[in-house]
Amino acid sequence: MSIRALFPTLVYEGRLRQGGWRVLNSRLLRECRQLRADDAAGRRWSMRNYPGGYTSYGSAHRMQQLSPTFAALARELDRHVAAFARVLQLDLGTRSLTMTDCWVNIMGRGAVHGLHLHPLSTISGTYYVAAPVGAPGLKFEDPRLERFMAAPPRLRAARRANRPSVTFAARAGALLLFESWLRHEVAPNPRAAERVSISFNYSWF
Ligand SMILES: [Fe+2]
Repeated sequence: MSIRALFPTLVYEGRLRQGGWRVLNSRLLRECRQLRADDAAGRRWSMRNYPGGYTSYGSAHRMQQLSPTFAALARELDRHVAAFARVLQLDLGTRSLTMTDCWVNIMGRGAVHGLHLHPLSTISGTYYVAAPVGAPGLKFEDPRLERFMAAPPRLRAARRANRPSVTFAARAGALLLFESWLRHEVAPNPRAAERVSISFNYSWF
């Protein structure tokens, strides 16, 4: 008897290089908060679409082109995305995976990020700038869920790969990468301390 795992859903966990990310994060944190202060259009967009939080998704969504600090982060992320693409065995031909969007998310108390995916992109991810104790993680949903129909629930002690959803804790200096079709969400932040992350998309050009 043999059991084969087919069609895996891969999530990449990584960290920025030792000895640099704390300095980079302090600069990023300052710039994220400054952006919120300066970005009136983004604050208005967030009031309608991101209660309790601020995101530059609807206003300043190409921060890698606006800020040398974000550009430095993007150079680090490029390495991780290339490594993930190799593990996924993507046949990119002569085209490369390039960062198209990079935006700021600041979640205050009660801010929530509902279930979504990232259309028109190939690989997406999140980098954590500030992840205070108690800050919610990133929850991924089994992409086959709508096909389960009469499938029984899984055991509470089921292996992570067999669960209908898996949550990765938020950690400053850490990053997560996933294929852009994978749905994910962030539960409400129960704490007053702000959870600050930078999300990004890579597309295949
Ligand atoms: Fe997302």
